[in-house]
Amino acid sequence: MDSPSGVTQELVERLSRADRLVVLTGAGVSSESGIPTFRGRNGLWENYGAEDLATWEAFQSDPELVWRWYEYRRQMIADATPNPAHTAIADLEKSCDDFMLVTQNVDGLHARAGSTNPIELHGNIWRGRCTKEQTLVDLPDTPLSELPPRCKSCGALIRPDVVWFGEPLPPEAYDASYDAASDCDAMLVVGTSALVRPASSLPLVAKHSGAFVVEVNTEYTAISVLIDTTLIGRAGEVLPSLVSALAETRAAVQTEPQTT
Ligand code: OAD
Repeated sequence: MDSPSGVTQELVERLSRADRLVVLTGAGVSSESGIPTFRGRNGLWENYGAEDLATWEAFQSDPELVWRWYEYRRQMIADATPNPAHTAIADLEKSCDDFMLVTQNVDGLHARAGSTNPIELHGNIWRGRCTKEQTLVDLPDTPLSELPPRCKSCGALIRPDVVWFGEPLPPEAYDASYDAASDCDAMLVVGTSALVRPASSLPLVAKHSGAFVVEVNTEYTAISVLIDTTLIGRAGEVLPSLVSALAETRAAVQTEPQTT
């Protein structure tokens, strides 16, 4: 029987036949952990939007303001816990031989839920990078003891090790996710408005390469008409139901009697 979230048996069977699966996530996957999305009603901080603060120009003109925004987010993330959507994605990984998780999120919640080696296209908020030497530093503690933080070796400003508007994605992360998108059998696109390129092009790369592409979102997005199916609902409700239906279908296939 089909579940109320729109997870039909036909869709589950189609996904269960996928040997190579890619999951692409965005801010919506963390919203049920209490982390505001970028473009939702709660996406503003002190009347600034992400586009005002997540730029090199904003950092150059007021590094302390930008770091205060990151500290506000780091403290919120530190207080948050992974939600059932993160857990379902980690469970899905365990049941797939060829699986890749690509996230636009910088919060590290996928790893905390048990996902191994997620590709973080936009970096990680728990790391900083020296603006002079480009060395990476772990910044696991919030609040920071110094705002803005400075490099212990050269004294230059440390910036968050995240991708800002107008900056290229880390090439290795993008290449790996592009290759996986062009070579997968199915892709799940979860909680992203699909407005920020080049991450938003990955579902289309998958679709053009013949993959079955399904999105999970509380509303239709820029890519909905270009992919196979949109499941409208909260990721924390739809994904656990989808992943458990997939596990049941796979188990049923494995126990089917073999014909000789
Ligand atoms: P957005 O804030 O643009 O979109 C979040 C999406 O999640 C929207 O489509 C919502 O409808 C959906 N959503 C919200 N709650 C949900 C839930 N419980 N379950 C399912 N879907 C839900 O976030 P992103 O698409 O991730 O980049 O934004 C992409 C990039 O833009 C971010 O990585 C960030 C931002 O500026 C940088 O900082 C470089």
